[in-house]
Amino acid sequence: MRLTDLVEFWEKEIKPRFREADIESKVSLSDGSVVKYVNLDNAATTIPFKSVIEKVLSNLCEYGSVHRGSGQHSKITTERYEHVRETIRKFVGASSDDYIIFTSNTTTAVHLAASLWAQRYGFILVSDTEHSSNLLPWAQHEHIKNNGRVVREYNINPDGTIDIEQVRQCFERAKNDDKDRTFAANSLKIKLLAVTGASNLTGYKPQIYELARLAHSYSAKIFVDACQLLQHEHLDMLPDDDPCHIDFIAFSGHKMYAPFGAGVLVGPKDFFDGRDLPSPFFGIDFHNLVYGSVYQLGGGNIPYIDSDGGVLRPKIERAHEPGTPNFTGAIAIEEAILQLQEIGIQHISRYEHSLVALALNGIKENSRIRLYLPKDSNEEYIFSTVIPFDIEGLPHKLVAEVLAQEYGIGVRAGSFCSYELIRKLKGITKEQDQQITKEILKGVTANIPGLVRASFGMINNLEDVNKFVSSVSEISNRGIEYYRQRYGLDEKTGEWRLK
Ligand code: ALA
Repeated sequence: MRLTDLVEFWEKEIKPRFREADIESKVSLSDGSVVKYVNLDNAATTIPFKSVIEKVLSNLCEYGSVHRGSGQHSKITTERYEHVRETIRKFVGASSDDYIIFTSNTTTAVHLAASLWAQRYGFILVSDTEHSSNLLPWAQHEHIKNNGRVVREYNINPDGTIDIEQVRQCFERAKNDDKDRTFAANSLKIKLLAVTGASNLTGYKPQIYELARLAHSYSAKIFVDACQLLQHEHLDMLPDDDPCHIDFIAFSGHKMYAPFGAGVLVGPKDFFDGRDLPSPFFGIDFHNLVYGSVYQLGGGNIPYIDSDGGVLRPKIERAHEPGTPNFTGAIAIEEAILQLQEIGIQHISRYEHSLVALALNGIKENSRIRLYLPKDSNEEYIFSTVIPFDIEGLPHKLVAEVLAQEYGIGVRAGSFCSYELIRKLKGITKEQDQQITKEILKGVTANIPGLVRASFGMINNLEDVNKFVSSVSEISNRGIEYYRQRYGLDEKTGEWRLK
């Protein structure tokens, strides 16, 4: 986009959608001055659209118990809550054979899916560099339910990109290993490929549709952690009979301008209802109810417990949402979707991409700045909304602290729950890794590898980009000695604080 188009898009399409108090929020700097806060931490969380706040507040005037009351407010609230599912279904291209289940965030959505996948034969396949939330829940539930079995991993390239051929080989090996097994329960096949839609650290977007095709060709399913994707780019699960169909997705409201505590899990009804399972797992199925299931039990999602203590479970979404649903979280997501659709995801993508391109152009020639982005065959950076970087001679946590204290720019520094990816990007050896672990056991976390991440969203504008570029350039020009006089290091945690 041309600079004038960027400014116009921001002024016309973006700015009016946020509260002035939020986008013009001021922060104090170390010298006592007050400046506009520049939020470059959108991959962590996002501020709400103005209309999201308004919608939440106005709906609270008629707020009542979802699913459980006879009063008008309860009925209105229930209807609105159920309506959100349909808005989400259309937004992500889910089919009428999918459930749209509300959770509290992406991590709880992955846990929910993982607890059910652990009831199926076979292995979960992940990359060795998934974010902890798309790795540990799978490992945890497989470990508990399947006698210590954990997930299978494939290695991604040193620059954080996925080599589809490697994934194919994994499927092929698993298929061959499975030939000699005697019992279905010992299946060595891969049942599910779980992959991020966009890396929270590099912004790299795996070819999810090609991976879906591959998984399906081995009779496996695919799960996409979409929490860093669908606020930036159009995501379509595609029709169920399309070979590239995405079977499951998860995402969070708070990363898409709707921070009211709701997340979403989408996947096939038959899977959630256990129709593909041999009966021992889910008990006796009668009158369209599942008897005796021991999953997500609680109030509000069980129609009856018989006098023998038998639990009857309905085959509907509610069965997977124990307790009182998060109505405000759900309608916040619905309103955010309407806003994203109104602006047009493709326009948002183009805008954000242009901002990041400008930011990269502003810093990439600086020899003291190292960017941790993959490159294409023309040696050009592959990027989306995230700039992972560090500055020669300056610890990453110091850079982040200086950006906050001296410029009012909020970024994040650390390892971003993507430990193996950080080790790969920073070339951490096994010996160094063991040394870091030893230190952590003694309470020293200062040497955990990390970098600085500036993550852009639609709320950013040209002014933010310019400020980021000039600040980072200035920091890189001043050496560590300059900052040592002003900041003190906590040797145990690696945090830097103003003296
Ligand atoms: N996963 C979130 C991030 O990358 C919290 O910051």
